[in-house]
Amino acid sequence: MAKKKTMFVCQNCGNTSVKWIGKCPECNEWDSFVEEFDEKVKQAPVGKINLMKLTEIDLSYENRIKSDIVEMDNVLGGGIVKGSLILVGGDPGIGKSTLLLQTTKKISADMNVLYVSGEESMRQIKLRAKRLDIEGENIFLLSETNLSNILAAIDMAKPEVLIIDSIQTVSSDEITSAAGSVSQVREVTNVLMRIAKERGIATFIVGHVTKSGAIAGPKVLEHIVDTVLYFEGEKNSLYRILRSVKNRFGSTNEVGLFEMTSKGLMEVSNPSEIFLQNSNMNEPGSVIFPSVEGTRPLLIEIQSLVSNSGFASPRRMGVGFDYNKLVMIIAVLEKKLGMVFSNEDVYVNIVGGIQIGEPAMDLAIASSIASSLLNKNISKEWVIIGEVGLLGEIRVTPQIEKRLMESKRMGFVKALIPKNSLEDRSAVKGMDIYEVNSLREAFKYLFNR
Ligand code: TYD
Ligand code: MG
Repeated sequence: MAKKKTMFVCQNCGNTSVKWIGKCPECNEWDSFVEEFDEKVKQAPVGKINLMKLTEIDLSYENRIKSDIVEMDNVLGGGIVKGSLILVGGDPGIGKSTLLLQTTKKISADMNVLYVSGEESMRQIKLRAKRLDIEGENIFLLSETNLSNILAAIDMAKPEVLIIDSIQTVSSDEITSAAGSVSQVREVTNVLMRIAKERGIATFIVGHVTKSGAIAGPKVLEHIVDTVLYFEGEKNSLYRILRSVKNRFGSTNEVGLFEMTSKGLMEVSNPSEIFLQNSNMNEPGSVIFPSVEGTRPLLIEIQSLVSNSGFASPRRMGVGFDYNKLVMIIAVLEKKLGMVFSNEDVYVNIVGGIQIGEPAMDLAIASSIASSLLNKNISKEWVIIGEVGLLGEIRVTPQIEKRLMESKRMGFVKALIPKNSLEDRSAVKGMDIYEVNSLREAFKYLFNR
């Protein structure tokens, strides 16, 4: 195939060059040149134009494929949408290949699946399939990294579900840069997108998250694909979280939970139980927070350790949430409650390797840190909810009913919540609800201060 003409374009100012340069002579930005096609004469092809009225579009046929993995289907918004392009990102070794192979298990009973691997040999995949108990009469395997060959295989196998494992290994002949570079990864994804739409093939693309988290990793593809799923978890924990961060066909931030076993990934149906597994130790620093991930309530444990610092500037470390939030909460505790952290290291961890971005978690974090500093435990009857403002006020947070109902179901009897946030009390009858306006008020209940 003839190579398309390419050029290098500065991603910062748009300056172009025929060869790659490290520093843009126009804007002085470093490392900003990316190879792109030289498409000055771009004419829209005039073909068959499929103009339709809104009323003519038929919704009666099923547009989604159900795998028998409920957690996967839920995260996708109720099954795999035909013709959609789904990016599955995650650290190497987290279980992406395993998850996708398992997803094809039931689908392949009555549909063709093409699994393209640029990382493993057919034998390796067969061994894994055997371990996962997947027979798959209709699963076609291809060990290939060349895009043209992959396209030819798609013509042969006529799959309804296609898996590309991983995008970083596939390269197009039309671009000179190496597989895994930004331009390769983009070009290959664009071609796959077109094929997916034209032929209605549900396409999964695996993308490894690179060390820096950005370059040629899933981040550069997020805006192209329909759906972005991230598979996360701690390497040395067996639990894995599948999360939708973008979904054109469903709500985002939905999570699915899995456990890695010797027979592959098992679905976790009662996740709160898992995250609270070891939380019955009644030590200072431990607090339970009922989070809502997507539409699903999930009880998690926050642990803090505040200890005398041996460093000139004491350490602050937060695992599972934003570092700036940690620093802000410590500042509010100092200023508004007169707590002193200037000689204390503060470590805060969300147990189980889950990432939480909700502001509703602030009060639970603040309580956890204070509990460790004061060396006073918070009894295991409490759940704590609320956003903390810079003035030490507690702000209203959404979905309080859902959080409290899950807490009640898991046996918690006391809840600290923002004032005026609970509308319907009948659902949580039997729980003692304490409504608070400020951190000061909250700590009165928790620590009798
Ligand atoms: P893998 O799916 O290869 O990860 P990725 O594609 O994200 O790089 O999974 C890697 C890990 O999963 C590997 O360390 C072995 C483990 N594993 C199990 O524990 N049980 C199993 O049944 C399988 C297939 C893998
Ligand atoms: Mg893999």
